[in-house]
Amino acid sequence: MDKLLVNGGCPLDGEVQLSGSKNAVLPILIASLLCAEPLQVRNVPHLRDITTALKLLGHLGARVEFNEDQTVEVDSGDLHTLRAPYELVKTMRASILVLGPLLARFGEAEVSLPGGCAIGSRPVDLHIRGFRKMGAQVSIENGYIKATVGRGGLNGARILFDTVTVTGTENLLMAAVLARGITVLENAAREPEVVDLARCLIAMGGIIEGAGTDVITVKGVDALHGACHTVISDRIEAGTYLLAAAATRGRIRVIGYDPQQGDAVLEKLREAGALLSIDPRGLMLDMRKTQPQAVNLTTAPFPGFPTDMQAQFVLFNAVANGSSMVTETVFENRFMHVHELQRMGADIHLRGNTAVIQGVVGLSGAQVMATDLRASACLVLAGLVAEGETMIDRIYHIDRGYDRIEEKLSQCGASIRRIPGWPATSVLPFRDGGSASPPQS
Ligand code: EPU
Repeated sequence: MDKLLVNGGCPLDGEVQLSGSKNAVLPILIASLLCAEPLQVRNVPHLRDITTALKLLGHLGARVEFNEDQTVEVDSGDLHTLRAPYELVKTMRASILVLGPLLARFGEAEVSLPGGCAIGSRPVDLHIRGFRKMGAQVSIENGYIKATVGRGGLNGARILFDTVTVTGTENLLMAAVLARGITVLENAAREPEVVDLARCLIAMGGIIEGAGTDVITVKGVDALHGACHTVISDRIEAGTYLLAAAATRGRIRVIGYDPQQGDAVLEKLREAGALLSIDPRGLMLDMRKTQPQAVNLTTAPFPGFPTDMQAQFVLFNAVANGSSMVTETVFENRFMHVHELQRMGADIHLRGNTAVIQGVVGLSGAQVMATDLRASACLVLAGLVAEGETMIDRIYHIDRGYDRIEEKLSQCGASIRRIPGWPATSVLPFRDGGSASPPQS
């Protein structure tokens, strides 16, 4: 397995071009299952999760073409199975998203139950409850969710989510576009990725109102058609690079940044002392002349502070002035990075779902282990800040969600390089040599 070797202690200074959003592109690629005509998706990042999604679509019988210009075309005109197997779902939880489209278009689907993961138990009960409300019969057999619906197909329904769920909202939204009548999703997720999916579904002929609010109304149609959709840029990737520059007291411009998507993160960066400015080329952060101040934060669904940026801020606070508290409310076990940061000299104590952090003058390089995607990003940032060498193991996690991270950071002056493991791995679609099937998060 590959490792990353980081030689820290040097402020970042440079520019990075953002890639397409992982969490937007996954449901959008899967939305191609809703129609018999090709869906063209632009700005698709090169990530292991995308490889897995395309493998899954290919497994179902879709014709998939990945072009060099980061465009993917998926033609789901002729599927040959409606079953998503354990082997693919276990490497990527978002595979659960095929349930809604398959059920809505074909009246049946079988998807392996994802199970728990490194950051929490992550049940899918709210997805299942929603499909039942739309008239589907759903059972759990031998670790698989089996769903069928009678001849008339799914019916529109009023679905009130007990908890805000991003993929739950997306799954039911995709099902609702082909259901009979009106579906109202209440307490729906408002994340920009949900809005991007809705935009794509509308381009395919779906009738949707309210995406981006907590009530989404969908009027079912008989069929969707092919479309071309450009995916939004990745706000979590942007936040991660901004934090990398802030934590190393450097400067960065993130190109392709959409300021609408990340107010909560920018707000915290300003509070921490970062100078932020937007120009036509992107968002600029300058921390060269400022002493970083630790900031308190609590994660919450959008527009609250994103849980996917919590680990990076824990690292930032660990080397900032003062003490702080970071509270995680979305996932119950998302502090695995804390133990690794402690090994690098961070002063952090966990009290339930809160990390109590006392800023230290510096960290020291160490051998550390990545446990999930955002924890890995946090460790890369820690390596950039720390004096000496940091070797990060199990970086297959980072390849799931960050497109060419070492290349982008090197462009900003970081000393970071990949140490290839055995067997060599690649994230390019259908050339995935990674034998050790990594656990999902
Ligand atoms: N939940 C339930 N029942 C459900 C669904 C969710 O109890 O049926 C709970 C979860 O256990 C969790 C909370 O609701 O406590 C929110 O989970 P959500 O369903 O919103 O998470 P998700 O859709 O599985 C997506 C992202 C995550 C991101 C979360 C929260 C994708 C593919 N994944 O996960 O991204 O952290 O929303 O914003 O969109 C990442 O990119 O690193 C990542 C983990």
